[in-house]
Amino acid sequence: LNYLTPKSRQEVLDLLVTGLKRLEYRGYDSTGVAIDSPDNKDIVMVKRTGKVKVLEDAIQEHFSGGEYSEPVNTHVGIAHTRWATHGVPCERNSHPQRSDEGNSFVVVHNGIITNYNDVKTFLAKKGYEFESDTDTEVFAKLVHHLWKKHPNYSFRELVEQAIQQVEGAFAIAVKSKHFPGECVASRRSSPLLVGIKTKTRLATDHIPILYGKDDKKLSSDQELRPHGQTRELPVLPRSESTSEFMPLEEKEVEYFFASDASAVIEHTNRVIYLEDDDVAAVRDGTLSIHRLKKSLDDPHAREITTLKMEIQQIMKGNYDYFMQKEIFEQPESVVNTMRGRVRFDGNAIVLGGIKDFIPEIKRCRRLMLIGCGTSYHSAVATRQLLEELTELPVMVELASDFLDRNTPIFRDDVCFFISQSGETADTLMALRYCKQRGALIVGITNTVGSSICRESHCGVHINAGPEIGVASTKAYTSQFISLVMFALVMSEDRLSLQQRRLEILQALSKLADQIREVLKLDSKVQELAKDLYQHKSLLIMGRGYNFATCLEGALKVKELTYMHSEGIMAGELKHGPLALVDGSMPVLMIVLRDPVYVKCMNALQQVTSRKGCPVIICEEGDEETKAFSTRHLEIPRTVDCLQGILTVIPMQLLSYHIAVLRGCDVDCPRNLAKSVTVE
Ligand code: G6P
Repeated sequence: LNYLTPKSRQEVLDLLVTGLKRLEYRGYDSTGVAIDSPDNKDIVMVKRTGKVKVLEDAIQEHFSGGEYSEPVNTHVGIAHTRWATHGVPCERNSHPQRSDEGNSFVVVHNGIITNYNDVKTFLAKKGYEFESDTDTEVFAKLVHHLWKKHPNYSFRELVEQAIQQVEGAFAIAVKSKHFPGECVASRRSSPLLVGIKTKTRLATDHIPILYGKDDKKLSSDQELRPHGQTRELPVLPRSESTSEFMPLEEKEVEYFFASDASAVIEHTNRVIYLEDDDVAAVRDGTLSIHRLKKSLDDPHAREITTLKMEIQQIMKGNYDYFMQKEIFEQPESVVNTMRGRVRFDGNAIVLGGIKDFIPEIKRCRRLMLIGCGTSYHSAVATRQLLEELTELPVMVELASDFLDRNTPIFRDDVCFFISQSGETADTLMALRYCKQRGALIVGITNTVGSSICRESHCGVHINAGPEIGVASTKAYTSQFISLVMFALVMSEDRLSLQQRRLEILQALSKLADQIREVLKLDSKVQELAKDLYQHKSLLIMGRGYNFATCLEGALKVKELTYMHSEGIMAGELKHGPLALVDGSMPVLMIVLRDPVYVKCMNALQQVTSRKGCPVIICEEGDEETKAFSTRHLEIPRTVDCLQGILTVIPMQLLSYHIAVLRGCDVDCPRNLAKSVTVE
């Protein structure tokens, strides 16, 4: 929303498209944009299936006329890049979705409106006809219905009424031709922030929240209700209009609503993270944040945060892909994770975000580590060390399965929620489940200000820097190190463990250089990829500290190359997977000189005696192990519990190179999204 300097519609479109490109990693199956028509009387939309580039080309074609290059003082535009949940990717299902043929209200939305069928049935009875298969269209039409019913309501009030009627998760932005120059946005369980750009320094560091009255009146109309029941629709109270628009009184200002900071960082580093059920409205250049209800501990204001992110961090630089850049950033990102926390000279570790909770954590019944995808693997990777150094039972759980099982949780449990984005719906739901049951909640995230961050009692920011490639790489190694640091903190006063701690600390101090060494294998891994990329399948075997690398390696191969790949616990080989092994099945085995070396060698022999010719990941100079195959990757020696950091890097490189050779889109694998904010 531009109130800063006159901009042409073409410039507004450029700005929106650049923002979409920054957010493309969140979804990339279709896109769309809506701006005002040159006479300001209508809304013009362009939507396309495919990536943002397709939309960009279409926009160039569509808006090249002179009238779009004339500067206007105020402009509101909305845009979206989609990851399909309801309805196949196609133009019809792309956002913005509209309320009617006249484009009265247009909406972009992330998340899932779970009661959309009920709302749809209700609206259909009122005569609405639907043109898409999306849940989002239902919201646009609901706002329209409310507008017809309450013609004297403000735009903000209409959206506020509408969000009372929907269930599920959403981050939503609405634009209307009946309210030119205005935009209303709201969220529940999906992330949304407001970026504020001004010419001069902002005079305030917070925005007061305006609350509506608490009492509900009921209208006499029969209205919709969740789960198909028809009941009275509560018409929620309107707030006093006198105080409604006093908050951020900047005259020359540009506002940005976005799902995450990468879309706004090139314009401003001043942002407000909205909370569930906040309704943020911009009118006449003024931003207000409104909530219908105030509970006792609700704050009076939302803070304006200054982001530390730099634009270079979200650019590809000289790399071909974000994923490649992020793999090669790992020598620096692991240091950033430890920065200010590990003192190698005094062997001391301080985790500022949880230090006050350590005594409570030490008294707990058990540690639970919960996450999805790669984040879950970081828990698998560190479980053994946590058990060793904390001497507590450690449970490792996939968030979705944990919830499916209604897992018993107790007040003296300590639950870790590991998530790069801090927004994964399954992980967030599991967090809320545990919080309700009184457990201590520890967040391990890479995204400051994310939902998991804000809803945790304490936590660790892994500080890996923005991760854009959908397949997680540097976040994994930083999550791994964060959990290792936690284990070290927990064992600080255990005399019997001091030698072990020292060994790990020393290994941590050498890790960045060793990662640099492993990255030098890149061209060798590329050669290996040439051998493997035409195969249908790849089995990755290992055990002990390296089992997590097998799982993570197989996940990388699957998500990036669409090849079948399986991470196999080498101990289980003889219980089934061995049947897959013959002279043609590609196998990769991790065999390091650690406590499970002899057992890994057994597995290796079982494979080679079935004519398998595995690629072996082994320690530098381990001639005895190398003798078992013609193909190997040698990695530097480190302490057993950190080996997984060095062994996963060849797997990241391998999946990357296979994906390139197979012509796959490395940063945007088909059907996947970086931040999965739906259950
Ligand atoms: C998605 C991503 C994965 C990621 C997982 C968990 O599936 O594609 O790369 O590991 O979500 O994400 P989180 O942000 O919670 O770590």
